[in-house]
Amino acid sequence: MTCFHSLHAARRLVLLGALALPLAGCGHKSDQTWQLSNITGVMPKLEFNLTNDLGQKVTAADYKGKVVLLYFGYTHCPDVCPTTMQLMSNVVQQLGPEGKDVRILFVSVDPKRDSNVILKAYTQAFSPNAIGLTGSMKEIDAITRRYRVAFSYGKPDAQGNYVVDHSAGVYIFGEDGRIRLLGSDSNPPAAFVHDLKQLIADES
Ligand code: NI
Repeated sequence: MTCFHSLHAARRLVLLGALALPLAGCGHKSDQTWQLSNITGVMPKLEFNLTNDLGQKVTAADYKGKVVLLYFGYTHCPDVCPTTMQLMSNVVQQLGPEGKDVRILFVSVDPKRDSNVILKAYTQAFSPNAIGLTGSMKEIDAITRRYRVAFSYGKPDAQGNYVVDHSAGVYIFGEDGRIRLLGSDSNPPAAFVHDLKQLIADES
């Protein structure tokens, strides 16, 4: 369903003045502006089959009713992953009680090294709202293809260590699993906080 938020101001005033009817069946407020990229409807809704950091099989249905920040990375990552995880952790903290239904889902693109036990320790070091997800290569390929996330493995060194190049976007889904926003560690925490507050208010 298409939802237009960018009605001309004058037209909006006329509509609001008339009857304050919902705009074209769209439940959102028309005066919203977003600081992150608004990608509502541009990507498919949240859907996956993975294993959580307790070793349990999970799907998107397990996170229904949560605002989800979906991120792809790996625990050996030296730079972007820790920076982005710290950013998301700060954002959830700044949301305070409003952030109680926000979940950070960290999907490993390095399942060979990232066991659920390692993922649990890694995500909990950043935020109690963070959950590590892993799976078979087939399952990880399915979700990365779904959100057009690219990743590739570097050549192992003498010790067998390798880097994984990966996309670093933060995909934000509403409580209904719909895709809404795209951010990254180049966005200030305040932009995330602003948009998440708006999104949470919108959904409740
Ligand atoms: Ni990384």
